[in-house]
Amino acid sequence: MAPRRAAACLLPLLLAAAASAGLGGYFGTKSRYEEVNPHLVEDPLSLGPVAAGARLPAACAPLQLRALLRHGTRYPTAGQIRRLAELHGRLRRRPAAACPAAAALAAWQMWYEESLDGRLAPQGRRDMEHLARRLAARFPALFAARRRLALASSSKHRCLQSGAAFRRGLGPSLSLGGDEAEIEVNDALMRFFDRCDKFIALVEENETAMHQVNAFKEGPEMRKVLEKVASALCLPVEELNADLVQVAFLTCSYELAIKNVTSPWCSLFSEEDAKILEYLNDLKQYWKRGYGYDINSRSSCILFQDIFQQLDKAVEESKSSKPISSPLIVQVGHAETLQPLLALMGFFKDDEPLRANNYIRQAHRKFRTGRIVPYAANLVFVLYHCDQVKTSKEEYQVQMLLNEKLMPFHHSNETISTYADFKDYYKDILQNCHFKEVCELPKVNITAIDEL
Ligand SMILES: *[C@@H]1O[C@H](CO)[C@@H](O)[C@H](O)[C@H]1NC(C)=O
Ligand SMILES: *[C@@H]1O[C@H](CO)[C@@H](O)[C@H](O)[C@H]1NC(C)=O
Ligand SMILES: *[C@@H]1O[C@H](CO)[C@@H](O)[C@H](O)[C@H]1NC(C)=O
Ligand SMILES: *[C@@H]1O[C@H](CO)[C@@H](O)[C@H](O)[C@H]1NC(C)=O
Repeated sequence: MAPRRAAACLLPLLLAAAASAGLGGYFGTKSRYEEVNPHLVEDPLSLGPVAAGARLPAACAPLQLRALLRHGTRYPTAGQIRRLAELHGRLRRRPAAACPAAAALAAWQMWYEESLDGRLAPQGRRDMEHLARRLAARFPALFAARRRLALASSSKHRCLQSGAAFRRGLGPSLSLGGDEAEIEVNDALMRFFDRCDKFIALVEENETAMHQVNAFKEGPEMRKVLEKVASALCLPVEELNADLVQVAFLTCSYELAIKNVTSPWCSLFSEEDAKILEYLNDLKQYWKRGYGYDINSRSSCILFQDIFQQLDKAVEESKSSKPISSPLIVQVGHAETLQPLLALMGFFKDDEPLRANNYIRQAHRKFRTGRIVPYAANLVFVLYHCDQVKTSKEEYQVQMLLNEKLMPFHHSNETISTYADFKDYYKDILQNCHFKEVCELPKVNITAIDEL
């Protein structure tokens, strides 16, 4: 009898927990890192359950670690803040006596200022400091005193600040190769998308390229959300549109990520609504940064190539018994840096493209950006030198971790690979990556046009 009674008492508690945690899983690229590693809520320095975490290979010593990070939790951009101020202003100007949801939002304190414009939030600094400490705890040999850390970042303020927070997290006990390492600005690798003319013309500045996203905004699923939100706010549905509803949903996500509070904005949405808004966010990432167009991922090959150049160099140095010149490479960029690279490598690819009209069929899709690139997302490549006598394996092995969890390699489904197999699997991409050609716009042949 006792267990049953206990279960009956627990049920309301469990339901309450599920309700408050409910929307957090659907915030896409605005998700907290804790959504993918829930054990961090209790202890931000915990390495997590051993089974789910990274089991490092026995009889192998790590030679090089390359970490590509997304910056930590940030404030909304100026544009998002402007749209929020507009929506909030509109709710404040209306008499809301008969409408509790609208009254609660009118009473909400608008505290975001445009000058916050996408900057790193205090929570973002903590994200990075904690991540640094966990990585150092997982790879103590690499993060040991006096190892050289090569730290690079995108030129964006939030990324530079994230890099500085990461370094601070490693603490003063680590003497990082004499001089306090400077953060190198490297937009060529961290913001390759800004320098790829073909991507800019075909995707970034091309409204037609987003037609699936725009169609979903006008489709039946979003229409249902709009009607519900309009009714909750006692507004005529014509006064709302998908962009305004998205701003309200974004504000719910920002308040949770930045302030750790469930704001009244969240009460506008049910879990089903949140799934629809998550899909809208994923659709945009899919067409703008993922598999939607080849150039999205192709433009990241310059970064992919650089990763292999550094791995090659470390293998060469190891073979000739030299010290590894770059044992630790940490680079801070954006969701837009990681997502194309993961697509280039073939990860999280669904059988069917994400489209405006297959929302239901994509319910169990792999491409969920909240699971792939939340704030502080990290993709880590580790190169090992292994003792062949003990392992009877190849000397050089690699592992990949996404958000601190081992990733199965595409070519084997295993979480460890020989470096040779890894490199061989991607040889076509590596050999055919000439950034200038990949990103060059097709030249209009004036002569040919004249002759037409
Ligand atoms: C814009 O995108 C559409 C759809 O992919 C494509 O057909 C068109 O060629 C693109 N326009 C430019 C200028 O690249
Ligand atoms: C966030 O809020 C939850 C619930 O109110 C609380 O348990 C948790 O400790 C808070 N986390 C932080 C980092 O303040
Ligand atoms: C990996 O596993 C998936 C699903 O189990 C399977 O479809 C695929 O063929 C496997 N790939 C390899 C290379 O073994
Ligand atoms: C341009 O078109 C003309 C006529 O078709 C052709 O002879 C010439 O080789 C083309 N030039 C380039 C650079 O493709």
